[in-house]
Amino acid sequence: MPQILSGAPVQARILENLKPRIKNLSRPPGLAVVLVGQDPASSIYVRSKIKACHDLGIFSESHEIPATVTTEELLVLVDKLNKDPKIDGILVQMPLPKHVDTRRVLEAVAADKDADGFHPTNVGYLVAGRPAPRSCTPAGIIELLKFYEIPMAGRNAVVLGRSDIVGKPMALMLLQENATVTICHSRTEDIEGVCRRADLLVAAIGRPGFVTADFIAPGATVIDVGINRITDAAQAAAFGRAEEFAAKGKVVVGDVHPVDVQRCAGAYTPVPGGVGPLTIAMLMSNTVELAEKHLASPDQTTGAR
Ligand code: GUN
Repeated sequence: MPQILSGAPVQARILENLKPRIKNLSRPPGLAVVLVGQDPASSIYVRSKIKACHDLGIFSESHEIPATVTTEELLVLVDKLNKDPKIDGILVQMPLPKHVDTRRVLEAVAADKDADGFHPTNVGYLVAGRPAPRSCTPAGIIELLKFYEIPMAGRNAVVLGRSDIVGKPMALMLLQENATVTICHSRTEDIEGVCRRADLLVAAIGRPGFVTADFIAPGATVIDVGINRITDAAQAAAFGRAEEFAAKGKVVVGDVHPVDVQRCAGAYTPVPGGVGPLTIAMLMSNTVELAEKHLASPDQTTGAR
C-alpha cells in the first residue's frame, strides 16, 4: 500500500509554529484580500483565507468588488492598500475578469506586501534563490515533502504544468532543493514517458484524472495539485467514486487518476486532503514574515510608513 501524504498535519505544524511569532509582534499582522466578482470557488477560497486569519490572530479585511470594476479602479484600491500601515500583505484573488489587466494589477502590489509571491521582483528573488514571499501552493508542497522526509536532492522531479502560480515556481523551488527538474506542458512529446522517469511527479494542469498508470513509475511520489469538480455519474464511477457521487451528487478529483495512483505510486497526496490545506497555511506564513520585516525596519517599507 502506498503512503498517503495528508496535508492536515503539515498545515497544523506550520500554523502552530506561527503562533509564537505572531505573539511576539507589537501589533497583529494584517492581510487584505481583494475578490473581484462572484466566482463561487474564489468566494469559498477567500472565506477560508479570512477564517484562517481570524483563527490565528491575524487582522484581515476583504474587499469584495463587482465584476464590472475597471483596471484603473483596482489600481486605486491597491495603491490605498500599499499605503495602509495596518496591512502587511495584499492578495488579489485570481482569476480576474477578462477585461481587467491582471499583469498591471499584480505589478501594482508593492513587492514587500506581496502575500502571494506573484510580483516579478519576488519571482526574480525565487529564481536567484534568495528569501522573499513565495507562491503559496508550491511552497506548501516543499513543506509537505520535508515533513514526510521525501528526498528531493538528486532525484528526478517532473512538474506537469507551467502556470505562473504553480508549475513554474514549483520547478524553481525543487531546483533549489537540488532536484533534477523537468517541466512538461501541452507541447511536450511523449509526456507519459517523461513522467515515467520521475521519482517525484507534481501534477498541476487542471484536467481531472489526466495522470494515469502510464505516467507513474512504480514507487514514485505523486503530488496532485488539481481540484476538479465532477458532476457526471459515469465519470465519477470511472474514478472509483460512485458511492460518494450517489450521496452528494458531485465529487472532487485531482489531476491524477485516484484508482491508478493507489495502484502504482509509492506515496501520494489524496484529493481532497492533500495539498489543499497547505496553500492557506503558506499564505499565513508569508503574511507573518512580511509583518516581521515591516516591524523590524518600518522606514524601508513601501507607502505611508
Ligand atoms: N487562485 C488560485 N490559487 C490562487 C492563489 O494561490 N492566490 C491567488 N491570489 N489566487 C489564486
